[in-house]
Amino acid sequence: MPNSAEIKIDDKSYQLPVIEGSEHEIAVDISKLRGQSGVITLDPGYKNTGSTTSAVTFLDGEKGILRYRGYSIEELAEKSDFLEVTYLLIYGELPTREAYDKFVNDVKIHTMLHEDIKGILEGFPSNAHPMGVLSSLVCSLTAFYPESLDPNRSSQGVYLSIIRILAKLPTMAAWAHKNELGHPFNYPDNSLSYCSNFIKMMFAVPAAKYEVDPIVSDALNKLLILHADHEQNCSTSTVRIVGSAQASLYASISAGINALWGPLHGGANQAVIEMLENIRADGGDTKKYLNKAKDKEDPFRLMGFGHRVYKNFDPRARIIKKAADQVLEKLGVDDPVLEIAKGLEEAALHDEYFIERKLYPNVDFYSGIIYRAMGIPTDMFTVMFALGRLPGWIAQWKEMRENREPIGRPRQIYTGENERDYVPLDQR
Ligand code: SDX
Repeated sequence: MPNSAEIKIDDKSYQLPVIEGSEHEIAVDISKLRGQSGVITLDPGYKNTGSTTSAVTFLDGEKGILRYRGYSIEELAEKSDFLEVTYLLIYGELPTREAYDKFVNDVKIHTMLHEDIKGILEGFPSNAHPMGVLSSLVCSLTAFYPESLDPNRSSQGVYLSIIRILAKLPTMAAWAHKNELGHPFNYPDNSLSYCSNFIKMMFAVPAAKYEVDPIVSDALNKLLILHADHEQNCSTSTVRIVGSAQASLYASISAGINALWGPLHGGANQAVIEMLENIRADGGDTKKYLNKAKDKEDPFRLMGFGHRVYKNFDPRARIIKKAADQVLEKLGVDDPVLEIAKGLEEAALHDEYFIERKLYPNVDFYSGIIYRAMGIPTDMFTVMFALGRLPGWIAQWKEMRENREPIGRPRQIYTGENERDYVPLDQR
């Protein structure tokens, strides 16, 4: 491994340290470059720039590897449960039986929301998008728990803040959904697992007895695990940069929810289903839509395709595609858009445009098909992504705070007007 890199600018050379990660990734440390040379680097979208070092998640875009604290998502999705993976991501190790039972119980006893949150919900029009409602409710936790505003409080205090949002986000999500329907809110049922409790809050109605389908609960458990973290993606980077200003955990998570909402990011899972429905309504001509996606004059993008990091396949998409077949079969659901999705994937994988640009299905391409089969409405799909990503956001925020990272404040290259004198209004 090289121990330094040299940058030559005009006739001057600058030596920069090189660092190597535990998976042998190499980076040139440019933190002293401007001090030495007066020059900065420029990388719109940070496509080639690392913002931090992190021990939480490792992914290899070429090999399609994704590991949480060293454990492969294939193993975790098969053998673990979401709260165990949550503990692993946040605290770095799989919990002992005693630690796991305490963690699960701590979450259970905090699932209720303050009754005043109903008043906030009732203030939203029924057509409010649940992601906007969710980010608002998360931010409201700073008012109900003002002690959470101090990110430097005791580790026990931080633990309580973490437990509260882990416990309350599913209740908030379910209440946002019920508010949209004009249905009464369901209170949490702590006799159920994390996933089953959420499903019951989402779908139970007072007029009928409700039994959670274990197929749905198991599918949700797997989906939440697969979404739990993904290193420095857009929303996690948002959580980190907001937290770097010593904003509270809840303020940082609320910001992350808003970043995830974007259709180029977590909002893609909703956009995929809307796209597939449009293709279906338009006769199911996948070739036509592949050509639209390739046409630079056409704003249409193949949603759920492409990824900043994965350049051969998204390992999560592979697992979700397989799960989609299994869940739909078990639930006896025949969803025509699944065949359209598979047809699009097949055609794209043999199309030069997609092959040349290394565009493959990502985590959002098939997930919506499972959510839909579970009875979750399309505008709640990105809320499901947020429920899954919450542990990752927490783990990354906690790591950034414990590492005492500096406030995030990128530089720029100015391309505007040079200095000029003010001209009084009547002389312009
Ligand atoms: C997530 O970062 C993460 O880890 C995110 C995530 C996570 O777990 O947190 O994995 C979750 O956000 C998944 C991505 C969901 N978004 C989508 O599915 C939206 C559709 N895909 C894209 O818009 C795009 O692929 C991105 C945003 C995912 C990645 O964009 P990049 O890395 O900035 O790549 P780009 O836009 O520069 O595209 C490179 C080329 C361009 O063509 P050329 O200019 O080279 O001719 O590929 C083309 C793009 O036009 N391209 C597409 C395309 N995606 C990229 N063309 C058609 N359809 C697409 N979907």
